[in-house]
Order: sequence, then structure tokens, then C-alpha cells
Amino acid sequence: MYINEVVETMNNRMSLRKYAQEDIMDAHLDILLECAIKAPTAGNQMLYSILTIKNDETKEKLSKTCNNQAFIKKAPLVLIFLADYQKWFDYFQQKNVLEYADKKGVSFKGPDQSHLLLAIEDAMIAAQNVVIAGESLNIGSCYIGNILENYEKHKEILNLPDWVLPIGMLTLGYYPPDLKKSFSKRFDKSFVVFEEQYKRLSKDELEKMFSEKEMTFNSNNPYKADNMAQVFYARKFVSESSQEMVRSVKEAMKNWL
Ligand SMILES: Cc1cc2nc3c(=O)[nH]c(=O)nc-3n(C[C@H](O)[C@H](O)[C@H](O)COP(=O)(O)O)c2cc1C
Repeated sequence: MYINEVVETMNNRMSLRKYAQEDIMDAHLDILLECAIKAPTAGNQMLYSILTIKNDETKEKLSKTCNNQAFIKKAPLVLIFLADYQKWFDYFQQKNVLEYADKKGVSFKGPDQSHLLLAIEDAMIAAQNVVIAGESLNIGSCYIGNILENYEKHKEILNLPDWVLPIGMLTLGYYPPDLKKSFSKRFDKSFVVFEEQYKRLSKDELEKMFSEKEMTFNSNNPYKADNMAQVFYARKFVSESSQEMVRSVKEAMKNWL
């Protein structure tokens, strides 16, 4: 049932990993960035920065540091969303906030985890505005979660100061003209939306929730796993990439403790 263009755009989005080999028009990039900036932001502080990356060498590096995902280097545009307290922290220092904090009897050494979490919310809300605006312009995108890996390398490649954490990355490009879209299934809403209070799912409910995923289980999998839970555990907890993510995030968090 058609509702309106916005809902239609959201329903027709899929993660796009193969792009038409044509640059994103400057006018379109401007629209994407304007839409990012229009996103809601905690206290209107805009606790994020966005890196636009078109340089092939940088894309190639990111392709490797983000778990060797080759399609990254083929994307005409990469955007990196940084949770960014550096600008506000520098501004605070410039305006004698540390002395002010002393006078107030509050110790202020720098932003901590709570500030980081809000900055992450800001950055990712801005990112999702780009995804939807892009979709409306026939620009497909894919998030790259592995930007959380290799913190030290990304710090160097992207010239990041201490109070800036790369939290979201998008590859973007126009849809190839011949592409037939395919949409991934989701868990049923009843397992995701609860009324008023959180509901811990029973064993039966968990079986139902995961039944479709279990149907795609291949007993001949490379992880020697007996079911989908074990497959996902192998991919998200045991794999080299997932362990690198754990290490990298721990390292990055040191700044915010
Ligand atoms: C935070 C986040 C990280 C993701 N990281 C990757 C990634 O590194 N590589 C990739 O190919 N897809 C990545 N994706 C895309 C998901 O695989 C995709 O959204 C999911 O399978 C659902 O498919 P759909 O977006 O087409 O509906 C990521 C998505 C999100 C939201």
C-alpha cells in the first residue's frame, strides 16, 4: 500500500555494495551533507564531523583496514562519521572552562563515556539522514561497521585527535542501471517492539524469532557450527575481525575514561 514518498523511499532501501562507476554529482553530495546537518542533535551541539573521502589511495587503505572488504575501494564516495568532542573541548579550553570548573568545585579533565555516547547518537542520526536522502536520489549506500577496527591506523590515516572517534562509515554510489533490488528479511515486529516495558523472550519465543534464520543454516559451514547461533557467534565473537574490533574499541575508549 502506497503511503507517501518518504515511507516508500525507506521501504525501498537496501544496502548497496556494487555501484555505477560514475561520480556522485557535487550538487547531490551537497544535498546529502545538508540533510546530515539538518538531523536532530543533542543540545544542538552537533557533536560530530563528517569526512568526505574520494581519494583512491585512502579508499584502498580503508578497504584493507575495514576487514578487507574490496567493494569499499570501488565506491565513488565514502563518508566517515566521527563522534567529535574535540571542537567543543578545544573551545572550552579557549574559554577558560577548566578554571571555571575549578571555581565551581567540579573536576573537569575532558569528556567521558556519557559525552561520547551522545556524540555517537548525533553522528549516527546524521548518517542515517544521508542514507535516506541518498536513496531518494538513487544513491545507494552501505554502512561499514569495521571502521571500529584498527583505531590507531584510522587515527593516522584520517588525522584524528584524541576526542574524535570514527563511529560510522558509509560507502555510496548511484545504483547500477540493471540492478534488481533484493531486500533482507527482518525479525518479526513482535520480537522487537514491546509495549511499555521490556519483555524477556521465553525459550519458545526465541525459537520462533530465529526460526527463519535457522532455515538458512548450512551444516557444511566453514565454522563447523551446529546451528545459526554458533555461526553468528563464530562471525561476531571468534573471527579475527571481531576480536580486532574488541581490541581496537578498548584502545579507543582509553581516551574517554
Ligand atoms: C552498523 C552497521 C554496520 C554494517 N557493517 C557492514 C559491513 O561492514 N559490511 C557490509 O557489507 N555490510 C554492513 N552493514 C550492512 C548490513 O549487513 C545490512 O544493513 C543488513 O544485512 C540488512 O540489510 P539491508 O540494509 O539491505 O536491509 C552494516 C550495517 C550497519 C547498520
